Amino acid sequence: MNAIASQTRSIPRRQERIDRDRWVSIRPIERADGPGLSDFYARLSTESRRRRFLGSGSPRAAALTRAFTEPEGDGLVGILEEHGPNDGAMVAHASVQSDGQGGAEVAFAVADEFQGRGIGGTLMQMALEQAQTRGLRRVTATLFADNAPMRGLLRGAGREIVSDEIHAGVEEIALAV
Ligand SMILES: CC(C)(COP(=O)(O)OP(=O)(O)OC[C@H]1O[C@@H](n2cnc3c(N)ncnc32)[C@H](O)[C@@H]1OP(=O)(O)O)[C@@H](O)C(=O)NCCC(=O)NCCS
Repeated sequence: MNAIASQTRSIPRRQERIDRDRWVSIRPIERADGPGLSDFYARLSTESRRRRFLGSGSPRAAALTRAFTEPEGDGLVGILEEHGPNDGAMVAHASVQSDGQGGAEVAFAVADEFQGRGIGGTLMQMALEQAQTRGLRRVTATLFADNAPMRGLLRGAGREIVSDEIHAGVEEIALAV
């Protein structure tokens, strides 16, 4: 593991309570998460995948693993904890990828059945923490302009919005880290 991965992996995990018996544990992504990541995106609804990948369809399993688990630690995953058959399933993913210009591109997805329960908000705070730990100055997200939940997350993150532009129905919002 390189020095940066080691730093990002040192961010403490957090837990979001779903109900009396279930939690989602959010932690930095690891290389071993590749198969879980493919299953997660395969289970996501067509609409959530459309919003996540801006209509371009989700990448194939090998490409997903390559893009999001290397370098290890550049992103986050949410893992379900329950006394039941889905214990250990991946239910959320945030990619936090360097743009090579002192910033990070972020993109989130939460399993359809767990959306609207605060997991996205925790991903946002932890993604900002990861970017900060890596010495990055801003995070940028690209979303469909009608994506109210994602815009809500960005505007509610408690950081200065340094730019917000819409072209052809696609919005790009950048926050100061
Ligand atoms: C966007 C997404 C990651 C948000 O995750 P989440 O766990 O649902 O988010 P939260 O529960 O933390 O809620 C985030 C905000 O959206 C609002 N929200 C949640 N669901 C909503 C809905 N269906 N319509 C409008 N607002 C909604 C919440 O009230 C909250 O706003 P607030 O902070 O002002 O209260 C999730 O909806 C998702 O995976 N969507 C599909 C993929 C996607 O759009 N990715 C973004 C591309 S970068």
